Amino acid sequence: MPDTRPALVFDRELILKYDKPGPRYTSYPTAPHFHENFQRQEYIEEIQRTNSIHQPPPISLYIHLPFCQSVCYFCGCNVHFTKDRSLGTRYVERLLAEMKALSPMLHPQRQVIQIHWGGGTPTFISASVLERLFNGIQEYFNIADNAEIGVEIDPREVQPEHFDLFAQCGFNRISMGIQDFDPKVQEAVHRIQPEKLTRSVIRRCRELGLESINIDLMYGLPHQTAESFQRTVDRIIDMDPDRIAVFNFAYLPQMIKHQRALPKEALPVPMEKLAILEMVVRRFQEAGYLFIGMDHFSRPDDELNRALEKRTLYRNFQGYTTQAGCDLYGIGVTSIGQVGRCYVQNLKKTAAYEAAIDQHGLAVFRGVQLTDDDLLRRDVITRLMCHFVLYKKEIEDLHGIHFDKTFAGAMEGLRPMEEDGLVSLYSDRIEVQPLGRLLVRNIAMHFDAYLGRSAGKARFSRTV
Ligand SMILES: C[S@@+](CC[C@H](N)C(=O)[O-])C[C@H]1O[C@@H](n2cnc3c(N)ncnc32)[C@H](O)[C@@H]1O
Ligand code: SF4
Repeated sequence: MPDTRPALVFDRELILKYDKPGPRYTSYPTAPHFHENFQRQEYIEEIQRTNSIHQPPPISLYIHLPFCQSVCYFCGCNVHFTKDRSLGTRYVERLLAEMKALSPMLHPQRQVIQIHWGGGTPTFISASVLERLFNGIQEYFNIADNAEIGVEIDPREVQPEHFDLFAQCGFNRISMGIQDFDPKVQEAVHRIQPEKLTRSVIRRCRELGLESINIDLMYGLPHQTAESFQRTVDRIIDMDPDRIAVFNFAYLPQMIKHQRALPKEALPVPMEKLAILEMVVRRFQEAGYLFIGMDHFSRPDDELNRALEKRTLYRNFQGYTTQAGCDLYGIGVTSIGQVGRCYVQNLKKTAAYEAAIDQHGLAVFRGVQLTDDDLLRRDVITRLMCHFVLYKKEIEDLHGIHFDKTFAGAMEGLRPMEEDGLVSLYSDRIEVQPLGRLLVRNIAMHFDAYLGRSAGKARFSRTV
């Protein structure tokens, strides 16, 4: 078996040559290809179909809690900004109603093996209201004893009672946003988060014995330089998290109004961003972290790395996950599900979502039913993105195709990348080489049949 583990190799020239904007492949087809002809009825039919499969897949639940009380100017997440805490209480009632509507549609033996509360800021909502939410999940679903249960927290917005609740409910994974410790950057992005506070939150997570702590950082923010960001990176290494995500700042001021409050002239130029990324890769690898893919690093003993080694790592709307083979149910405003052969997304505005739940129990906005060709290409793209190796025979056996004939064009398109050492094209497999790992989505893009087709205002980001 090829070694998929040698370190990522950073080559500035190759990155500049191949780093074209492209999807992040948390789904295939990507969200701009979802359409509004897919509605509640199509969703219900697909749920019923998955129940009748010989061994229906287990369930992963994503619950979106969209509220934040203060705007981080960089934020591109699906957020509802408000200071009114009562909105959270009303919203949780709708989450319970949505789960109540879904629950009888699912075969009772189907187990939930993963739960994730994402945001916004889940801890904007009080611990007592979140407890009602957790009790509801237990009431409406069959949760496996060893389920992965995770939550995103903002260290500035979490109370001692929240930690008590997480311990009591058996949460075993925490993800928290930091972005950058530099006071000048924090001021420019309107997110003041003292290092002392972050350290105390991490200490509390450790006391609770959480299995995995993830930290989010971001590069490309105003005033960042490779030198300044290295100070943040070194402090993060000292905090010793299990996983680190280093996101490339997606700056879309035409679409995201609050990003216009950022000082544009202070954004790092592309060559500086490249220097920052190079430093990030070097420092984390020197400190013993392994590159998982796209923007993720993990400790060698973290499950993400073990899943990468065993080729069971998967990618969905939550990013990289160890739970391949699940149906993902998205609960709450804007949430996206991946159920059977379809993707489905809920309404995007809180008021509209709540009204739809009150009326029908579900709040489908749009979705897409996947064709055989979509399923084939999704499989190819996912394997490349998650395992850095793809065995043609496995794809042929699963999808009933002849790999080299079906993908003759894609293989031809990869030749220049092979000549540059990014990828190796063998008769039985494709291997992404250490030089190509950072550009893995540019490799995967060769298998995407939708690129170039118009899909509304699809805007893709770059690696750097
Ligand atoms: C949905 S947020 C939830 C985290 C939590 N609310 C907090 O701020 O601590 C998850 C992460 O998305 C990343 N993110 C937000 N806006 C982004 C943008 N415009 N470009 C790239 N990453 C972004 C940040 O790293 C953030 O921590
Ligand atoms: S980064 Fe987190 S806290 Fe800040 S606005 Fe976005 S979701 Fe809210």
